[in-house]
Amino acid sequence: MSRKQKFLAVFLGTLVLFFGFVMVRVWALKPPSTMKLTAIQAGEYDPAVWGQAYPLQYQSYLKNKETEPSPTGYNGSVNYQKAERQTEIYTNFKGNPFSKDYTEDRGHLYALEDLQHSKRIGPASKGACITCKTPAIEQFYNQMGWGYANQPLSDLLAQSKHPVSCANCHDPATMNLRVTQPAFIEALARKGVDVTKASRQEMRSYVCGQCHSEYYFAPGSNQVVFPWDNGYTPQEMYQYYASQPNGFAQDFIHPDSKTPVLKAQHPDYEEWLNGTHGKFGVSCADCHMPYVRSNAQKYSSHWMTSPLRNVHESCLPCHTQGADQLYNQVRATQDNTWQLQRTAGLTVERAHKAIAKAAAVSGANQAELDKARELLRQAQWYWDYVAAANSQGFHNAVQELHTLGQSIDLANQAIDAANRAAGTNSL
Ligand code: HEC
Ligand code: HEC
Ligand code: HEC
Ligand code: HEC
Repeated sequence: MSRKQKFLAVFLGTLVLFFGFVMVRVWALKPPSTMKLTAIQAGEYDPAVWGQAYPLQYQSYLKNKETEPSPTGYNGSVNYQKAERQTEIYTNFKGNPFSKDYTEDRGHLYALEDLQHSKRIGPASKGACITCKTPAIEQFYNQMGWGYANQPLSDLLAQSKHPVSCANCHDPATMNLRVTQPAFIEALARKGVDVTKASRQEMRSYVCGQCHSEYYFAPGSNQVVFPWDNGYTPQEMYQYYASQPNGFAQDFIHPDSKTPVLKAQHPDYEEWLNGTHGKFGVSCADCHMPYVRSNAQKYSSHWMTSPLRNVHESCLPCHTQGADQLYNQVRATQDNTWQLQRTAGLTVERAHKAIAKAAAVSGANQAELDKARELLRQAQWYWDYVAAANSQGFHNAVQELHTLGQSIDLANQAIDAANRAAGTNSL
């Protein structure tokens, strides 16, 4: 063997050992040792009833009531208005309820209350909005199929007593994980995946992906659809939306720039799926529901919050780096994403203004204006995809920084096209 070959062999050997070690650590996370199974009645949506049989999980679930900021200063469980920190939200969503009320998310126990108090809903709101807020979704879908999505939201709210809880994720008879959200099951079926045949490790992310995903309401029926037919990246979803699926063309038309805008909705599952942890098979539950102990009993924490509140439980079962080092790494990723996200959002805002100004010029070039609107639609989608996802870039830093770079470039191209349309091209 030449020195080069020897070096290569040692290098490859080290790689195999290292990743073998990492994967063994990943898969060695075994479920809790002993658990007495108590069958709960089908259709029981009250978490307190489940809690009598499973008190440790229930006690940790009640912690979702906490409303503290996250240690990073990003995300967190305080429902502040996002526009206070990102003023571009006012312009970019002008004419859409998101410009009036767009709060940071908080714990699962608030899901119904926050929906009820949202200024984004009104008397005309439809049942589709309740899809990811309550376990009663099972009952509504069993009774009405997708027909529930077109019922008045107020009727369904009156029948929903419990926010996101046990029955959203567990089969009451067996406690096995299950998906109750029909749009998730349908989206995967279109890809040839049968959710009922998923592995346990897959289910530990599917139960979250059923709600933490991008979606749109099909015009007319208000059926919830996940836009995954072309793939899960922001670029693939943009192509999918370009085909106007089910007649869906846009969420709203911007009143000043007349751009048909797509509003992104918390694509956490999609972001994670293509990121380092998603690709290595690390599930949402591995970080957000770590194993914790109460005396001798080991159980899954049901406090689904920032994992950085519990770096030891959430990260250190797999990582040998220290807690501080991991925290600093997350923070650096978030700071970088935040900076580019603001630049993208503010450039998108300038593009709306440039197009509105150009359109007001008499004799403005319509073809250039249309081009500017298409560029802006894409730029805004790319900005919003990152801004609407919940980890401030951590779930998939490479994809998110790339997408923000594209957003900034496209928004600048939109401004150039608007200037050409108005005959004021400065290039
Ligand atoms: C490798 C660990 C890891 C995995 C896997 C992971 N996350 Fe996260 N998640 C994080 C970290 C770290 C943050 C940032 C928390 C912060 O800023 O305090 C976060 C943030 C979030 C937030 C925002 C929390 C808040 O305070 O508002 C949500 C929601 C979320 N993740 C959902 C998911 C979902 C759904 C999945 C799976 C599809 C997932 N995460 C997979 C580590 C992870
Ligand atoms: C958002 C989804 C979700 C909700 C809501 C939820 N669970 Fe779980 N639960 C999980 C996941 C994921 C696991 C881990 C299962 C595994 O790894 O096989 C789990 C595990 C469990 C286990 C098995 C033992 C353990 O601790 O790992 C019990 C018991 C349990 N949950 C009870 C409850 C109860 C009671 C509630 C309501 C108060 C509840 N769960 C709400 C997702 C959920
Ligand atoms: C039935 C729908 C549903 C399911 C299932 C679900 N979530 Fe959520 N999740 C929500 C909603 C809705 C909110 C926002 C609630 C609010 O702000 O009032 C939320 C908020 C969160 C937050 C923010 C908490 C905070 O304190 O800021 C985290 C983290 C989170 N979910 C993680 C998860 C994880 C991990 C899973 C899977 C184990 C999961 N969720 C499953 C609907 C769901
Ligand atoms: C179940 C195992 C597992 C858990 C839990 C886990 N990780 Fe990882 N992490 C991995 C694997 C596997 C990789 C990729 C291979 C490598 O770099 O070691 C990785 C890579 C990383 C990287 C480098 C790549 C990137 O995306 O930036 C960071 C940073 C990281 N993890 C942070 C965290 C943090 C923070 C937590 C806790 C919130 C966490 N991890 C929890 C397994 C895990």
